[in-house]
Amino acid sequence: MEYNENIAACIAEISEIAGYLWQKGWAERNGGNISCNITDFADDVLAECSPLYGPVSLPRPLENLSGNYFLVTGTGRRMRYVASAPMDNMAIIKILDGGRSYVIVAEKAVVPTSELPSHLSVHSYLAGRGDGYRAVIHTHPIELVAMTHHKAFLEKDVLSRLLWSMIPETRAFCPKGVGIVPYQLPGSLALADATIALLDEYDVVLWEKHGAFAVGKNVVEAFDMIDTLSKSAQIYMSGRAMGFVPEGMTDAQMQELKQAFNL
Ligand code: 13P
Ligand code: ZN
Repeated sequence: MEYNENIAACIAEISEIAGYLWQKGWAERNGGNISCNITDFADDVLAECSPLYGPVSLPRPLENLSGNYFLVTGTGRRMRYVASAPMDNMAIIKILDGGRSYVIVAEKAVVPTSELPSHLSVHSYLAGRGDGYRAVIHTHPIELVAMTHHKAFLEKDVLSRLLWSMIPETRAFCPKGVGIVPYQLPGSLALADATIALLDEYDVVLWEKHGAFAVGKNVVEAFDMIDTLSKSAQIYMSGRAMGFVPEGMTDAQMQELKQAFNL
């Protein structure tokens, strides 16, 4: 199918990032999923597509998404194949019926991720915010997930401070830090709600003992934040592996960064 420049760019971005998720070892089997709100880019070509599959009821209505279009990776699909054959492993869906259902409109009948409740609930929240955030990534970054297995790291902002202090970039490029969502069943509305509850404050949250979930203006931006936090986690664990607890930048050094970068 011939996509316009903007939609083609979103597809290219998703496939690029899916490749990185695989290369980083964050995407075992079908681990992780990506979605992007492409409503602003929808054109007549998309409007004229007849449904390939559906309508499928959504677990709860998302009125403000009615008529919206999303690129979304398929359930059970491997990120490494999203990278090599994007439109064989993701679909464009359209939300219908006042936000009560969706249909697949392109390009193949690839059923969306099992985390669709979280993705769409978060897109509904982001659309309400109206600040141009259109991308959502969920992935399984090894070191960050490992850190959520330690109770002390689950307290509010303990991990944010620790990860910020490992390298100046994390303080500068993840200025909101990282929120913690206590364990919930994958794919559940409870997980979606617990995630949204933290997005006023954070762009990246960790799902306890499961993965990371990030929002951004585009998929690259959302990926970069998880990648930067992951770098800090790796530095911390490298120090521990060498037999010491990394000292971390001091509060004064982090304050200096905050001022220097207007964070
Ligand atoms: P899907 O294959 O349904 O996208 O699920 C992967 C995953 O990571 C669930 O949390
Ligand atoms: Zn997952």
